Amino acid sequence: MLLLAFTWDGTPRFTREEVLAADHTARYLGGWRRPGDLGLVAVDGRTPLGAIWARALPAATPGYGYVADDVPELGMAVAPAHRGRGVGSALLAGCLRQARATGRRAVSLSVEDGNSAARALYVRHGFVTVGRDGGSDTMLREL
Ligand SMILES: CC(C)(COP(=O)(O)OP(=O)(O)OC[C@H]1O[C@@H](n2cnc3c(N)ncnc32)[C@H](O)[C@@H]1OP(=O)(O)O)[C@@H](O)C(=O)NCCC(=O)NCCS
Repeated sequence: MLLLAFTWDGTPRFTREEVLAADHTARYLGGWRRPGDLGLVAVDGRTPLGAIWARALPAATPGYGYVADDVPELGMAVAPAHRGRGVGSALLAGCLRQARATGRRAVSLSVEDGNSAARALYVRHGFVTVGRDGGSDTMLREL
């Protein structure tokens, strides 16, 4: 799912091994289930359909959508065969609920230019653009 998030346009810009090996991509999930990590996996029976994760990354080792040390940055992906059926929307709503329930003040993310499906989903769930980094917008959802 992390690989799908980084190759959202279907271009194989990275391999799974590269995403897991490079610190700037692996830092989103490395040592998963640290205190404060938030996330959900959507399943149909035993089949995983998609996932969402959110982790507060510090300024020294930030994510692409860094806003503040206490604001977790989220990432998500739904397997191609299961898109367009509300799975992404359910994951995002669930993660926002988790973040609110655990006392977070906001969550952020980074979305690349051209990723209209993800951007539309984020806007629908109350994210607003607060910054720009290269070819991506940083978006924030206050809770
Ligand atoms: C973004 C993503 C997670 C959405 O998951 P999903 O399960 O398809 O989401 P949903 O079915 O809940 O909602 C999809 C919405 O996007 C809309 N949509 C689909 N393709 C679209 C496009 N090209 N442009 C605009 N909207 C689009 C659908 O119409 C739907 O809106 P609706 O609920 O108003 O009908 C999924 O497309 C994905 O995994 N993309 C690749 C990875 C990615 O981009 N991750 C985010 C990186 S920032």
